[in-house]
Amino acid sequence: MKNNIIIWMVAGLVAFAVSALAQDNNCLTCHQDFEDEDGPAHKIVRDIHYQKGLLCNDCHGGDPTLEDMDDVRNSKGYHGVPSHFEVPKFCASCHSNARYMHEHNPSLPTDQFDKYKTSKHGQLLFGKKDTKVANCVSCHSVHEIGDAKMPHSSTHPLNVAKTCGKCHADPDYMAEYNIPTTQVQDYLESVHGKALNEDHDLGAPTCNDCHGNHGAAPPGVGSLAAVCGNCHAFQAELFNRSPHKEAFVENDFPMCETCHSNHNIKKPTDEMVGAEEPAVCVRCHESGDGTKGLETAAAMAESIKELVSVRDEAKAVLANAQQKGMMTTDEEFALKDVEQILIQTRTLVHSFNKDEVVVKAKEGLEKAKIVEEKSTSLIDEYFFRRKGLIISSLFITILAIGLYFKIRKLK
Ligand code: HEC
Ligand code: HEC
Ligand code: HEC
Ligand code: HEC
Ligand code: HEC
Ligand code: HEC
Ligand code: HEC
Ligand code: HEC
Ligand code: HEC
Repeated sequence: MKNNIIIWMVAGLVAFAVSALAQDNNCLTCHQDFEDEDGPAHKIVRDIHYQKGLLCNDCHGGDPTLEDMDDVRNSKGYHGVPSHFEVPKFCASCHSNARYMHEHNPSLPTDQFDKYKTSKHGQLLFGKKDTKVANCVSCHSVHEIGDAKMPHSSTHPLNVAKTCGKCHADPDYMAEYNIPTTQVQDYLESVHGKALNEDHDLGAPTCNDCHGNHGAAPPGVGSLAAVCGNCHAFQAELFNRSPHKEAFVENDFPMCETCHSNHNIKKPTDEMVGAEEPAVCVRCHESGDGTKGLETAAAMAESIKELVSVRDEAKAVLANAQQKGMMTTDEEFALKDVEQILIQTRTLVHSFNKDEVVVKAKEGLEKAKIVEEKSTSLIDEYFFRRKGLIISSLFITILAIGLYFKIRKLK
């Protein structure tokens, strides 16, 4: 919220500075006069180009000192409104010009147009003159273009799914293409969509984090199948040294999607591993198929299940000790270690090697048992102290009564 206020204040100051500059820019003043609120000259105050000092004539050309639109049209350099087909080259006239962009913002890449051409969108636009695919303004909007940090921007992480969904979630619009239109819906219901949109975890991916901004997969990713490993490095590393690596390449199974799907990724559960439905292992392995697949699956499932159940017992006994007011700081820390080991054990499933899972689970089991034992002795201590208290209070009471009679006798 505070951030938003600062952003709006800065935007206000910038708008003030630019409006001083724009005072004798006739394009802007004349257009602002006759356009309604949704017109380019009003929207433009939210546009990063305007905020950085660029005006109508920087994009559309024409002489901004002229006072009549017809004169503008006939003036040098006026190129009017680009068609859907022309837009990428129009934007690229600045954005692919490394020298020009460097003067404005040296950290901004200048490869958008090159990447766009390699994307499915670019291929169809230039190869088939298909104007239904996305061009620069379909994703960035026009006259209110923002960078990815501006909350109103169509490329802000929280808005990207909607931006792509304008086309990809519209079955009528996409009817002529033989691809599903469920990506947005699936994504919004997935662990990633929920982490981003509900928990505002900006580390969680939206469409462009997996697909790349301009079509090419993100840096360091050979194919889209490898994109998950950018963030889930540990699972990818385990997978890559597992027996599945080669088998999946041979069979053309994508490495993570095969078990987790791509858009509809759900929170994994322990039921996913094992030798019976609904475990994913039984989709490909069956008993007697000559592989160690199911045997491994069963052993892993057994280890994880045992660790979970001993962890649960330890947790219950510890809670009991806490309830009795005992000092349990050490045991609480030890239980946190057990939780950590359980997470690591689940991750190790991706080694598809039962020994790695069994060894890790055993480490957790031992720790959990210690927590249980220590918590049990704390509870014993509680009862011991309570018994002691009762006996000593009894003793004191008897003593007091004895004293009372003694004093009376003395009187
Ligand atoms: C005196 C007012 C006025 C000035 C100055 C003016 N425009 Fe326009 N402009 C208009 C009007 C009115 C239209 C609506 C089109 C029409 O019906 O003629 C228009 C249309 C346009 C269009 C739509 C495409 C087209 O050719 O019709 C663009 C783009 C445009 N103006 C950009 C500019 C730029 C850039 C400048 C400055 C270099 C500028 N205008 C200066 C009044 C103006
Ligand atoms: C960053 C470059 C850029 C700037 C700056 C810019 N425009 Fe545009 N403008 C475009 C593009 C690209 C289109 C074509 C949009 C499309 O294909 O939908 C366009 C379209 C238009 C149109 C056609 C109708 C419409 O609403 O889309 C008008 C009129 C127009 N611009 C006027 C202006 C005026 C007036 C300004 C200054 C206030 C301005 N533009 C600033 C890039 C720009
Ligand atoms: C006249 C040159 C020019 C044209 C044409 C142009 N841009 Fe820009 N664009 C710039 C400059 C300059 C910046 C600001 C760089 C800075 O200072 O951060 C910018 C910034 C941007 C940014 C924000 C980048 C960031 O993350 O900071 C986006 C997105 C963008 N432009 C998209 C477009 C699109 C889409 C088009 C075509 C409709 C377009 N631009 C046309 C010059 C241009
Ligand atoms: C399919 C949607 C899509 C299309 C088409 C598209 N962009 Fe982008 N673009 C994005 C997204 C999303 C980002 C935001 C990246 C981020 O999160 O920082 C972006 C970022 C940018 C940036 C900021 C710098 C960068 O490269 O990250 C510029 C400049 C830009 N785009 C220009 C363009 C131009 C020029 C075109 C047309 C040749 C274009 N874009 C086409 C979605 C698109
Ligand atoms: C203006 C509409 C439009 C927008 C906006 C749009 N797309 Fe597309 N996209 C299309 C069309 C049309 C196709 C072509 C379908 C096909 O592959 O035949 C396509 C193709 C694709 C493909 C290739 C599908 C395949 O064939 O395997 C991917 C991936 C894709 N888009 C992702 C995105 C992402 C991510 C965004 C947002 C950042 C986005 N698109 C925004 C219209 C759009
Ligand atoms: C976690 C990564 C990830 C995210 C997030 C993601 N995708 Fe995908 N998407 C994939 C993978 C992987 C494929 C399969 C591509 C392949 O195997 O070549 C795919 C395929 C596609 C396709 C091709 C048609 C299909 O369904 O197979 C489209 C279109 C598409 N995604 C659009 C989107 C849109 C729109 C969003 C955002 C709502 C999105 N994707 C979010 C990873 C992702
Ligand atoms: C941009 C980084 C990023 C990319 C790319 C990415 N993820 Fe994620 N993933 C996350 C984040 C962040 C979470 C949320 C962590 C949490 O809260 O559990 C997450 C959660 C998950 C979860 C749930 C984990 C759990 O314990 O609940 C699974 C499964 C998952 N991702 C699989 C994938 C797959 C498969 C791909 C590729 C198709 C992928 N991810 C691509 C960042 C990413
Ligand atoms: C999409 C299909 C698929 C799924 C799902 C799958 N596997 Fe596999 N797995 C294979 C293939 C193919 C091989 C290679 C078999 C061969 O070498 O003949 C393999 C090999 C293995 C091997 C090595 C077997 C050996 O004899 O060396 C183990 C262990 C294994 N898988 C365990 C699992 C476990 C555990 C699961 C569930 C978490 C699982 N697999 C899920 C396809 C799959
Ligand atoms: C052969 C099936 C299979 C493949 C392939 C697979 N996973 Fe998993 N994954 C599982 C199973 C089964 C679980 C559940 C383990 C549990 O909770 O007991 C799981 C759990 C997860 C989790 C949550 C637990 C953790 O490790 O934090 C993440 C994240 C994850 N997988 C990511 C990935 C990524 C990334 C890839 C690709 C490198 C991948 N998975 C490939 C079967 C698979």
